[in-house]
Amino acid sequence: MIHDLSRWRMAFPILETSTYLISHSMGAMPRATTDRLHEYAASWQQEGSAVWDRWMGFFEETAGLLGRFLNAEPGSVVMHQNVSALFNAALSCFDCGGKRNKILYAELTFPTLRYNIQSRARYGARPVMIPSPDGIRQPAERFIEAVDDETLLLVLDHGLYRSGALIDIAPIVQAAHARGAQVIVDAYQTVGTVPIDVQAWQADFVVGGSHKWLCGGPGAAYLYVRPDRLLSQRPVMTGWFSQEQPFAFGDDIDYAHSARRFLGGTPGMSAVYAARSGYEILLEVGVEQIRQRNIELCQRLIDGALARGLHINTPQDTKERGGLVCIDFDGAAQAEAQLVSRRVFIDYRPRCGLRISPHFYTTEDEIDRMFEELDSIRTG
Ligand SMILES: Cc1ncc(COP(=O)(O)O)c(C=O)c1O
Repeated sequence: MIHDLSRWRMAFPILETSTYLISHSMGAMPRATTDRLHEYAASWQQEGSAVWDRWMGFFEETAGLLGRFLNAEPGSVVMHQNVSALFNAALSCFDCGGKRNKILYAELTFPTLRYNIQSRARYGARPVMIPSPDGIRQPAERFIEAVDDETLLLVLDHGLYRSGALIDIAPIVQAAHARGAQVIVDAYQTVGTVPIDVQAWQADFVVGGSHKWLCGGPGAAYLYVRPDRLLSQRPVMTGWFSQEQPFAFGDDIDYAHSARRFLGGTPGMSAVYAARSGYEILLEVGVEQIRQRNIELCQRLIDGALARGLHINTPQDTKERGGLVCIDFDGAAQAEAQLVSRRVFIDYRPRCGLRISPHFYTTEDEIDRMFEELDSIRTG
């Protein structure tokens, strides 16, 4: 149960004018974000170049808030524009030119990861796709069986964008480490709706972004780097802000002793300011509560879909799924456009169907309204 639901709903203006069931793609913008963006603009306008001390403090503090969603140790999280950039920076730590050059990844992985893995073939990497048995799940056993002494790296999506299914990370990391391989987890589809403990996972890297469940908007992705291995990670993708003392303008690489060694160049501060209010609200509500609420509302979605004989492309067992439910039927692609035109926000993906997600600010009535609109669309 979410306390003060009506107060939280007030904090997200779009909820007054729409049925908002798309937080797996673009979380609602908090009302407070407008003030944050004014704060950013005012600080730049009034302080000019002197503002950088304030901004870097804000940057580190915001990364620290993100760390709370992950149970990350201090100094282990850095922000950047998007997952693609951070994933590339993490990949650039690996030498793919030796015999240990396999990179294992899930068939249902998010395309940006797949493309970046494939592009590393130019430097000798051997991408190995682990098939999904049913187009919905990616069982841990399949990764564990596939890891061998030639495996350099495993790339795992904690929540699959096409089905919402979860990959059980910890046993895979354990098997990978036992064989000398490392693991990068993409938790974009789960951070903010599923409690996460990176210390329990023991993964080497975790990436994610803010414009979904975290309600933080675009441009505010993040990377966690396991602290006890941080100093041995030497990203080829680097820059002056990755150095221990950027403003010393040294002649040679001297990586920062924190996750900032993955930052590269000047951070995009407006996105960091825009992201902040979403984090603060979600931390106040609490991810455990958000998860419980999401489970209840997803069940309502599943029950509604089953009652209508629609196909569900998401595991029905709560433990196996994250925050979204995928519902498919003939005409789902066309239904997406019609629902959105009626301000029922959901989306459609091929081989998946309609992706629908409740967040902590969602009500039962909104789910019922979505089904009413869908019924009227389907019966023409
Ligand atoms: C699992 C996952 N990873 C990454 C991304 C996005 O990557 P980027 O931040 O590079 O746009 C998405 C969706 O936007 C996603 O669902």
